[in-house]
Amino acid sequence: MALTETYDLIVVGGGPVGLSCGWNAAERGLRVLVLERTGFLNETNGTSGAERHWRLQYTQEDLFRLTLETLPLWRRLEGLVDRKLIHEIGSLWFGDVEVHTNEGRIDETAVHMDNFDVPYEWLTARDIERRFGFQDLPGHYAGFLQPDGGTIDVRATLGGLYSLAQATGARLRGGETVLAVEPDGDGVTVRTDERVYRARRVVLANGPYVNDLLAPLGAPLDVGIYELALVALRLAQPDRDFPFWFVFQQPTEEDTNLFYGFGRNPWSPRDEVRLGPVFEVSPLKHAAMATGVPAPRQVERLTTWVARHLPALDPTPVRSSTCLAVLPTDPQRQFYLGTAADLVPDGDKLVVCAAGWGFKFVPLLGQICVDLAVDGRTGADISRLALSSSVRAG
Ligand code: BEZ
Repeated sequence: MALTETYDLIVVGGGPVGLSCGWNAAERGLRVLVLERTGFLNETNGTSGAERHWRLQYTQEDLFRLTLETLPLWRRLEGLVDRKLIHEIGSLWFGDVEVHTNEGRIDETAVHMDNFDVPYEWLTARDIERRFGFQDLPGHYAGFLQPDGGTIDVRATLGGLYSLAQATGARLRGGETVLAVEPDGDGVTVRTDERVYRARRVVLANGPYVNDLLAPLGAPLDVGIYELALVALRLAQPDRDFPFWFVFQQPTEEDTNLFYGFGRNPWSPRDEVRLGPVFEVSPLKHAAMATGVPAPRQVERLTTWVARHLPALDPTPVRSSTCLAVLPTDPQRQFYLGTAADLVPDGDKLVVCAAGWGFKFVPLLGQICVDLAVDGRTGADISRLALSSSVRAG
């Protein structure tokens, strides 16, 4: 084992949140190391792929506020990397308004949009058909278009964060797996497959592997890891364009019946779009059990829905793959974000940012994690996301 190196902050995980932490910490003058088990600049977290959803609106007011707080940070990042990262192709959120899940309570979302002066257009099923080319939607479906929503350019974001982290002095080390984090009275020992490090504080931003490090401390997070299908479809009507869309429907006996799709964007193949189901069923025991091959049933459910409701798309998949979604078992909480102070002895030295559909919050999450690590607090309201209440026994 190589000699111990010491840092102010070690960030475990070099995905978007980890890089954002590295950059934010280095900007604050910290000696910071970001450790990534694979290589940097891959796109395999969350909904995976080259684009992610940007939306302002959330049903929960505190999360809505977080998106509003993130927007200026995206604008700053865009300025620093001299590139547009959010493309406002619109965010269309619609479905069966009787569905009272996180996604479905859109009347409450609309109240917040009114209160925060966020523009939107309320749409009936017929409006959605006429405007966006959907067909055969049940008459009681409704939704809204939030025109400032859209997609985030994943590659440009990751590349920008990587360059900024490097330029501000963060040390970035790929191909090194963290095996254990051990907080104590003075700091944290971080053991990897190559070295032993010491840090004053550690941020865990290692996505589906978070419980590999928290379970040995007796505090695994209550999350499900789901391998979700991703399907690329060809536009049968090449002139048709879409906003990002998400449809929420009454769950079936087997699945959540939620589907989403991206529109075209400047960096995707010209006449293809990417879609997926969000079926929070059959969680994996561990991320390593992911196969990369989509469950045929997920692909069939999605393409059957498309064949019925989206004639502008050819439902025969051009390509398919999977992504790993790590989601809190309690759907109300959406993320885990906070210190582990209430979970493990000396846990105030560990900051955890885990689970949830977090790409849209990336610049803010980096800032919050570093604030928590350095100051022990943050100005953002993250009380819903704290690590205290939802921990499984054992
Ligand atoms: C989201 O915006 O949170 C989201 C988008 C697509 C799939 C799942 C979640």
